[in-house]
Amino acid sequence: MKRSLTGIKPTGEIHLGNYIGAIKPALDLTKNHDAYYFVANGHALTQAHQKKSLEMSTNGVVATWLALGLDPNKSVLYRQSSIPEIFELSWVLATLSPKGLMNRAHAYKAIVDENKRAERDLDSGVNMGLYTYPILMAADILLLQPDLVPVGRDQIQHIEMARELGLAMKRKHGMSIRLPDASIMEDVAVLPGLDGRKMSKSYGNTIPIFLEKEELKKRINKIKTDSLLPHEPKESATSNVFQLYQVFATADEVNAMKEAFQKGISWGEAKAELFTVMNRTLEEPRESYKEWMSKPKEMKRLLQEGAERVRNEATPFLQNIKNEIGLG
Ligand code: ADP
Ligand code: TRP
Repeated sequence: MKRSLTGIKPTGEIHLGNYIGAIKPALDLTKNHDAYYFVANGHALTQAHQKKSLEMSTNGVVATWLALGLDPNKSVLYRQSSIPEIFELSWVLATLSPKGLMNRAHAYKAIVDENKRAERDLDSGVNMGLYTYPILMAADILLLQPDLVPVGRDQIQHIEMARELGLAMKRKHGMSIRLPDASIMEDVAVLPGLDGRKMSKSYGNTIPIFLEKEELKKRINKIKTDSLLPHEPKESATSNVFQLYQVFATADEVNAMKEAFQKGISWGEAKAELFTVMNRTLEEPRESYKEWMSKPKEMKRLLQEGAERVRNEATPFLQNIKNEIGLG
């Protein structure tokens, strides 16, 4: 079986965009792949050092994977911080990485551009962890030699950098190392948020995945619409409500809704229908999430098992690399 690997950074609440763009495609792959899925808690440190919220979000991501259907007996679930080999490999890769490669990383570049705009020092707010973020990510990947790395479009550049660093290892030391492919779900929608822009934590326009029923209803009611009156025909193609509906409804429901838009369904009714299909999908995982969150010891046990499985192969793999490069 081919291997898939991906990580989720525990920073804040997981939203429907994360679910549709990253988690769901990754879970679909577990059916016919050896899946190695982890919580990138080391990467979260680049954003903040807050023990309590980091621990909470880390458990939140673990519970989310489990609630949405990751089977820990089939797939490997672990925390990045339990695998010291990742951080060790990261150093080796850092010494093979040209500084210019990191200068081109988009997250870093975005901050520099923003600093430029605000006429601040160009590196203001940039720590070295953030700067070398793609190197740690390359270590996550190369250490476990996956065939596929399912991620959203915004992460393609990071996968390419991982390939580049893997290639540098190959060239320098002639060792055989697998260069993974990014698995981008071409037909996966970029989910719009409440205001119509891409749903993102940084825009504050998200619908968190496990909102309680009533909260979900309220949040859906905040989706921006135009001011067309109830019986006036509405265009489905440009509507946020419709785009979200499409993701959660069956093909028949989508067709019916398209017609309802033409006939002039009211925004209130359309949002009520959206709530129905979303809640139908989220109801069960929401309960399962709460259950997992009430069992931190059980989660810890699963994570320890996962870490053990990873280290069983990562330790000799890294030792090999160290031997090859003179650190053995
Ligand atoms: P955010 O933009 O909220 O900070 P992240 O950057 O942490 O989200 O995204 C984590 C993963 O979820 C990435 O793989 C990203 O591509 C995916 N993702 C985030 N927002 C969306 C969205 N609106 N639609 C589809 N995928 C998304
Ligand atoms: N950088 C990814 C994100 O922000 C998270 C991540 C860290 C990751 N390490 C990874 C994803 C390794 C895939 C493989 O979404």
